[in-house]
Amino acid sequence: MNIAANVGPALALEVADADSIAELRHQAEGCTRCDLYRNATQIVFGEGSVKAEIVLIGEQPGDQEDLTGRPFVGPAGRLLDHCLDEAGLDRQRCFVTNAVKHFKFTSRGKRRLHSKPNAGEIRRCAWWLGAELNILQPKLVVTLGASALYALLGPKAKLTPERGHILHPANRPPILVTIHPSYLLRIRDKEEQQRQRREFVSDLHKAAAFRPS
Ligand code: URA
Repeated sequence: MNIAANVGPALALEVADADSIAELRHQAEGCTRCDLYRNATQIVFGEGSVKAEIVLIGEQPGDQEDLTGRPFVGPAGRLLDHCLDEAGLDRQRCFVTNAVKHFKFTSRGKRRLHSKPNAGEIRRCAWWLGAELNILQPKLVVTLGASALYALLGPKAKLTPERGHILHPANRPPILVTIHPSYLLRIRDKEEQQRQRREFVSDLHKAAAFRPS
C-alpha cells in the first residue's frame, strides 16, 4: 500500500499499489469498495496517454460511459471535446478520468438518471484516483466540477471562488479548478450558457498554456 502523495488527507490516506495504469485498471475491474458496482454495467477507468502531463478529472461515468466502458463519450464528453479543441488542448495529450469509477443512477422507467455520488463514495474511490495520479505524476490536474475538486482537496475547497485559478497544494501537482461540462448543458439561458462556455474554454486554454515554474 502507498500513502497517497497526491490526494487530500481528508479523503484517502492509502491508495492502491500498482506499477502501471494497466495493472491498476486490472485491479479495479473487481472493485467492491462501495456499493455502486452492484448496479453499474462495468467499471469505467481512466484512459489516455500514460505520458500525459495533464489529467482531467470528471465526476463519474454517465449512461453512455457505463455502457461503453469509456470516460466522457456521452453528451458531456462531446461538449468537452469541442471545448478542448477550441482551447487548443489535444485530448490525446491528456489522461481523462473520474473521481468515481462506477455509474450511480436512479431508474425512471427505462431511463437511468444520473445521481450525484456522496462523500463516502468519493472517498472510497480516491483509492483508485490517488493511485492513477501517483503513477502518472502529471504536471497539472484539471478538476471538472465540485466532486473532482472534493476528491482532491476535501470539503474546504469551493468551486465558485477557486474557478479558473491554479491551486498549488503542498507536495502535489497543481490543480486548475473549473466547472463540469454537464453544467453548461443544464443552463437554460442562451446568453449565460455562451458566457459560461467561453469561460470554460478560457480555463482549458490556461491548462494548455500551463508551464510548471
Ligand atoms: N460526466 C463525468 O463526470 N464523467 C464522464 O465520464 C461522463 C460524464
